[in-house]
Amino acid sequence: MTQSRFYVTTPIYYVNAKPHIGHAYTTIVADVLSRYHRLAGVEVHFLTGTDEHGQKVQQAAAQRGVSPQHHADETVVAFRELWKTLEITNDDFIRTTEERHKQIVQNILQNLYDRGEIYKAEYDGWYCVTCERFFTERDVPERICPEAGCGRPVQRISESNYFFKMSQYKDWLVSYINDNPCFIQPDFRRNETLGFLRQKLNDLCISRPKSRMSWGIELPFDSEFVTYVWFDALINYISGIGYSVNPELFAKWWPASCQLVGKDILTTHTVYWPIMLKAMGVEMPKMIFAHGWWLSGGSRMSKSSGNVIDPMDFVERCGIDAFRYFLMAEMALGQDAAFTEDAFVRRYNADLANGLGNLLSRVATMIGRECGGIVPEPAAESEHEIALKESVLRASSAMQKGIEVMRIDTGVVAVSEAIAEANRYIEQRQPWRMSKDGDKAGLATVLYSVAETLRILSLLLSPIMPGKTAELRKALGIGGDHPHLKDSARWGLLKPGTRIGEKIALFPRLDEPKETRKPVDKTSVPESGQAAAKDIVQIEFNDFKQVDLRTAKVLTAERVEGADKLLRLEIEIGDEKRQIVAGIAKHYTPEQLVGRTIVVVANLKPARIRGVESNGMLLAATGNDGVLSLVSIDGEVGSGLRVG
Ligand code: MSP
Repeated sequence: MTQSRFYVTTPIYYVNAKPHIGHAYTTIVADVLSRYHRLAGVEVHFLTGTDEHGQKVQQAAAQRGVSPQHHADETVVAFRELWKTLEITNDDFIRTTEERHKQIVQNILQNLYDRGEIYKAEYDGWYCVTCERFFTERDVPERICPEAGCGRPVQRISESNYFFKMSQYKDWLVSYINDNPCFIQPDFRRNETLGFLRQKLNDLCISRPKSRMSWGIELPFDSEFVTYVWFDALINYISGIGYSVNPELFAKWWPASCQLVGKDILTTHTVYWPIMLKAMGVEMPKMIFAHGWWLSGGSRMSKSSGNVIDPMDFVERCGIDAFRYFLMAEMALGQDAAFTEDAFVRRYNADLANGLGNLLSRVATMIGRECGGIVPEPAAESEHEIALKESVLRASSAMQKGIEVMRIDTGVVAVSEAIAEANRYIEQRQPWRMSKDGDKAGLATVLYSVAETLRILSLLLSPIMPGKTAELRKALGIGGDHPHLKDSARWGLLKPGTRIGEKIALFPRLDEPKETRKPVDKTSVPESGQAAAKDIVQIEFNDFKQVDLRTAKVLTAERVEGADKLLRLEIEIGDEKRQIVAGIAKHYTPEQLVGRTIVVVANLKPARIRGVESNGMLLAATGNDGVLSLVSIDGEVGSGLRVG
């Protein structure tokens, strides 16, 4: 993180409904980015808030028989409280009905009007109340709102109104976007905006006659009108930092480092907003990042689809941190993702209960039992410790890179790989055997290495799970430290002699929902644990003989794009080369596999897994803690040998 200041914004949320997971997501992403930057010593300003004017709020209030202000005052509480519950560390919360905002919107309108950027004309066209957007005849041939995910009927509107001269800036905007590839992210969203700009761009109708809609900010130059809700709302990003009234504060934070939006509000943020700023003579934000949607039941989660999931349902059951973790891990920033209870429980159990929680409990138990609760002094490192250290430091750089390129999910994958590596390291090194054999130096090295692993990984996860990582660090005896993000890139900072804290169950396992138990995994990773052994169905030797088990050498390995559990392996079985797909990406990195001799079922019918052909299946065992180990062969043997 090279910058010294970081200003991040979320969209301001409509107060016509209660917040759901979609709203919580944007706000948590902004919070995680803010916390990472603070941890890196960067000064942060994080702004969120509520969008309280417009027809939707006026209608929602009318339905309840209360004033729009009363309605907004009540609904805003749900947002404020949810952010408090989710441990959101916003520095400011702006409401568009606040005087500080209204005054700045009026200043801007007057200034643009005085400079001839706003004119009055007859408006005759179509309008979508839900999206609060105007459309021309050509935009709505079917009389259906064309906004992503809307599709509601539009209304005909014919009235005199004020217009902002947006069209004259079209060529400038196209060049600006082309010259500044980081301005709109991800890249495919930039192309979407450029595609939109290939069509004719109209001037923007920015007013509503009060006779039709009065719930808005009055135009300073015509008291018969209020301003269009988007013109009002977008200005929050600069009114919140004192544009035109507090030049020092404004200069400190503008241009924003990152403006997060959902993909449904791409056009307003990547066309209207930059042009408004340009007309005002204000610098462009550094980046506008559009994320995807949380889907529920296959469609966008929204109040009108009736498929919203209340974040509190999950928070109450599994805690704030697990909820935050799931949202960050499950959605590749930019893409859509489905929110299901099944996916939630599975990820919780795999990554948190069996992964991080299990690692802590193993480390705390062993240090308690073997070292009287004191972190031991490590002896010389073997190649095992070096490999573990590399995996942990890789997680540190992957997380930092992930934050820079807005892929928090890839940082999380690298951390969970390091957790799996640490659990596997314990299996390989077998500290319980060292203890039995009296190998004190070996034992101390192993216990120190895993404790140090936990120090680093808990630091990397702290912006996502502030509460649980604080508990973890307390359990490691380092709860009072105030680390810097760069401490995650330095191995060996945990002081031998540190007394560890109370033993805790960080993430108790959750029961999987019965009706959605894990489907048969075609990628060959077996269910974990010994429990299944007693249920084994016996087969005849002849049946077994039909299974052609062979040794195989891994020639290449790579991740399967869009599938975070899968690796594509090119293997050699004797003279033959072929490809298999295996669900082991959470447990092995591609580098750990190349050159290894594994055992595969060579005569399994080919299958397509996530569109990639797989010719065979590798063998692996999964421990009770969910950690997977490949079946391998003792000593140097060739590939293609029959196993059995
Ligand atoms: N008030 C406008 C934004 C004005 S910003 C100057 C608005 N509000 S909203 O409450 O409808 O949506 C706010 C944000 O929540 C948008 O970024 C939207 O994409 C996001 N989400 C709403 N539903 C969502 C999902 N199902 N999934 C992810 N985010 C979605 O638009």
